[in-house]
Amino acid sequence: TTVYVPRDTTALSLGAEAIVARLERAARQRSLDLRIVRNGSRGLCWLEPLVEVETAAGRVAYGPVEPEDVDALIEAGLFEGRSDHPLALGLTEEIPYLKAQQRLTFSRIGITDPVSLEDYTALRGFEGLKKALARDARKIVDEVKISGLRGRGGAAFPTAIKWQTVHDQPPGQKFIVCNADEGDSGTFADRLIMECDPYLLIEGMAIAGLAVGATQGYVYLRSEYPNAHAIFGEAISRARAAGYLGPSLLGSGKAFELEIRLGAGAYICGEETSLLESLEGKRGLVRAKPPLPAIEGLFGRPTVVNNVLSLAAVPYILDQGGQAYADYGMGKSRGTLPLQLAGNVARGGLVELAFGVTLRELMEDFGGGTQSGRPLKAVQVGGPLGAYLPESQWDSPIDYEGFAAFGGVVGHGGVVMFDDSVDMGDQARFAMEFCSVESCGKCTPCRIGAVRGVEVIDRIRAGERATENLALLADLCDTMVDGSLCAMGGMTPFPVQSVMKHFPDDLTPRHAEGG
Ligand code: NAI
Ligand code: SF4
Repeated sequence: TTVYVPRDTTALSLGAEAIVARLERAARQRSLDLRIVRNGSRGLCWLEPLVEVETAAGRVAYGPVEPEDVDALIEAGLFEGRSDHPLALGLTEEIPYLKAQQRLTFSRIGITDPVSLEDYTALRGFEGLKKALARDARKIVDEVKISGLRGRGGAAFPTAIKWQTVHDQPPGQKFIVCNADEGDSGTFADRLIMECDPYLLIEGMAIAGLAVGATQGYVYLRSEYPNAHAIFGEAISRARAAGYLGPSLLGSGKAFELEIRLGAGAYICGEETSLLESLEGKRGLVRAKPPLPAIEGLFGRPTVVNNVLSLAAVPYILDQGGQAYADYGMGKSRGTLPLQLAGNVARGGLVELAFGVTLRELMEDFGGGTQSGRPLKAVQVGGPLGAYLPESQWDSPIDYEGFAAFGGVVGHGGVVMFDDSVDMGDQARFAMEFCSVESCGKCTPCRIGAVRGVEVIDRIRAGERATENLALLADLCDTMVDGSLCAMGGMTPFPVQSVMKHFPDDLTPRHAEGG
């Protein structure tokens, strides 16, 4: 009997190790030949730990399983894959939340043992790299151009144009830097890649290296992800031993090496230039652009800085062709977007879908509404610097241009839901407070503006000359948007302005007094 118990952070934090111990004990008692595979997560966080059993018809799922459930599940026929238990979910692939997705980037997560090269290659792993090795660098860039892939870290800049800029720099040392400092609220897609399908990122980075002529890559990983660090580190060693990294990739004579560097917990180190400063061993201060990192990046050399999700989309594009990726999506937003449902949600998890899905479909059909059962009031998309969107905006299809048209931010695809008990005045204050804590301090509108922003919001909520202070807050927001050096100060006003516009009642003194 083969049983799968995930080893990603979500499952571990919900008792996966204790479940394994109980399964092993029960198998010993029954003298059963049990094989436990520690797979990755399917991304259905609300069902974790999701235990699966191999049957002739396919993998059968049970979840969310608590260690205390294991004995009863075994009594109800878990080892035989029977379904007469309330936690039985039937065939995993038939779970509607999973079946309705369009998984191109996340096609393998949860299916495989994350560090098994055999599992990875059995599902077309490294096919993209092999095709890249057989091509000129320029042709690799062209394939990515056809796909229409845009930066999934948040800014949505066309990946191929960034690569082309680095490719076109004179030969010499160039770098691929992967931004794995996943700091946006409610986001966990980068972590899922690194914990559940790490070779995908290794493959994407190696392809990027071949495309631009870079032989060295660094993954800048947040230290808050120790499990991702361990799994990804093991995957790098195994890939190197098997010739997928090193001085001669698969005997081609083309080199690519990869190392992990850990961050120290600063949100601003997710901004590409402060990330580069930090990689160089300095304090994470934002650099002015230009020069762009593509021209003068790490140690002054041409550098591709891409988010985990952008790089992880690349193996599919090289393997299946750019057009296959571009066939998904709408308008100028091609391909799929890994959305992450979090906050007050009944069914949180990863939902990869083509651009064009609406927030309402996502929050209701997938998310199942709020966990509290109370009505939804607002949703914040795109991290702590994204606007709070009211119900009137939940029916617009998700794409970069459409969202930008009403001041929304798709960002890294984080979707954080709030029910009607939320005080949007608190949320507006939080945005300014967050910025005052995380600001790198380099420019005045952000460093001083965020502190003044908290004070002004406090005065408004205390009823001190509210009208004048609201005008002052609006003015301060404009100054931060126009005058900040980077997106930290430049976007912090977005959530504040959205509260002023769509939830003004929550900013009144009467509300603050609970009246
Ligand atoms: P940006 O618009 O300045 O740059 C986008 C990217 O394109 C950068 O890598 C830049 O170097 C590159 N680029 C621009 N012009 C280029 C050219 N001509 N040739 C080659 N490369 C070029 O945006 P920025 O400041 O890098 O990112 C802001 C975004 O980050 C926001 O939209 C926000 O959503 C997102 N964000 C994401 C977070 C996360 O955890 N993933 C956290 C905070 C913000
Ligand atoms: Fe630093 Fe804030 Fe200025 Fe960005 S906007 S450079 S985080 S002070």
